[in-house]
Amino acid sequence: MATQKLNFFVGTILNPQSDTKCDYYPNGLLVVETQGKSSKIKDILPLERGVKKYGKLITKKNMKDFGSAVIMPGFFDMHFHWVQDDVREMPKDSLLEWLQKYTFPTEMKFSDKKFAEEKAKFFFKKLTLHGTIGGACYSSIHQHAVDSAIKMAKGHFVIGNVLMNMYSPEELTQAEDESLKLTKKLIQKHGKKHCFTPRFAITTTPRVMKEGSRMADKAGCFKQTHLSETPQEIEFVLSIYKKIPGFEKVKNYTEIYEKTGMLGKRSLMGHGIHLSTKELGVLSQTKTTIVHCPTSNAPISELGLGSGLFDFKKVEKAKVRWALGSDIGGGPFLSMLDVMRSFVEQNKKKGVKGATFVKSLYRSTLAGAEIMGIHKHAGNLNKGKEGSFIVIPFHLDQAPKDPESLLSSIILPLKEKREKYGECVTSTYINGKVFEA
Ligand code: GUN
Ligand code: FE
Repeated sequence: MATQKLNFFVGTILNPQSDTKCDYYPNGLLVVETQGKSSKIKDILPLERGVKKYGKLITKKNMKDFGSAVIMPGFFDMHFHWVQDDVREMPKDSLLEWLQKYTFPTEMKFSDKKFAEEKAKFFFKKLTLHGTIGGACYSSIHQHAVDSAIKMAKGHFVIGNVLMNMYSPEELTQAEDESLKLTKKLIQKHGKKHCFTPRFAITTTPRVMKEGSRMADKAGCFKQTHLSETPQEIEFVLSIYKKIPGFEKVKNYTEIYEKTGMLGKRSLMGHGIHLSTKELGVLSQTKTTIVHCPTSNAPISELGLGSGLFDFKKVEKAKVRWALGSDIGGGPFLSMLDVMRSFVEQNKKKGVKGATFVKSLYRSTLAGAEIMGIHKHAGNLNKGKEGSFIVIPFHLDQAPKDPESLLSSIILPLKEKREKYGECVTSTYINGKVFEA
């Protein structure tokens, strides 16, 4: 049996608990116990108390002093397209034009297996170095691209091939039977790591959504799609479904997903910006999650698609679960620090209160783990959870008075140099081990 080993990490520790609570140790000690390939957080406490408690067990060899650098849980990005890494910084139009002009042609390139393998290696390494260690991810239509992504992703990810059967370019159009056969095969191959991923109601037929959804539910897999991202998209969706037998009377976008079995406690709806109270009620009843992607929804002048501002207050009032995502490549940068910044700043600009950094940290970490049902062992640094965390160097003569000031001091100085957020994370630890590129 592998022997147990203790490792001690010293730094400024942040441990998110909820929208309004984040434990803060200005001078803290994180104790991680590893045994073989698994690890557990044994303790989290002020350094002074830790030194007294662990005394001689702390040695030069097993202790890493990060000084005033911040130690916090790794991020969960609950909506991103790994195959859109090259689309991130391309010009942005409105959603439907951007998909046609830039996104679809980029995703076509993943039909080449070698290309997909190389890209997956590069992308997921970069993602880990950005501190993202979990979440839900879209791939292209191609089986080998999902296989490569699942192989290369480090941490807690669910990943799925987008399903496209209509209103799509020829190169990305699959027959319904082909989509369903592939869904069955990928569930068999990857189990719960596979995420059933109809791209959205425009591209995926009701039959594929319905039958695939049933397969996913049976296997306990997650399901993800896009919902109500822009008014133009909603209008197009409703005009298409008016002509589809059985859907002629559909009153709103959410109802289409309800009728095809797409909603539920393992369902992730990207965006959900333009939803009525009635639709939110259905999402709440079915325990469906909305993934809010502020950098993607931001105005075009801020490198987003200009889709609108997500009303988190209305969503919370309706008791709908939600978390944050980057929506790479709708969102321009991989870093969840940039996503947190965008959430806080866009709301502040509109005079909406309550969009704090503490809230954005919770929605980028523990909330994701809760939605994925793995919060008992991931999502923050509570005792007993796995020893996964990130390190962000930070220098100030005096420790900030609370987590909110600390997070704003890390995030705001880079708001005009957003590409630099990618360099903020200097180490990513996964299960007690530092990730080496
Ligand atoms: N809706 C359908 N496909 C996509 C996509 O790739 N990105 C975004 N942002 N929205 C979508
Ligand atoms: Fe998306």
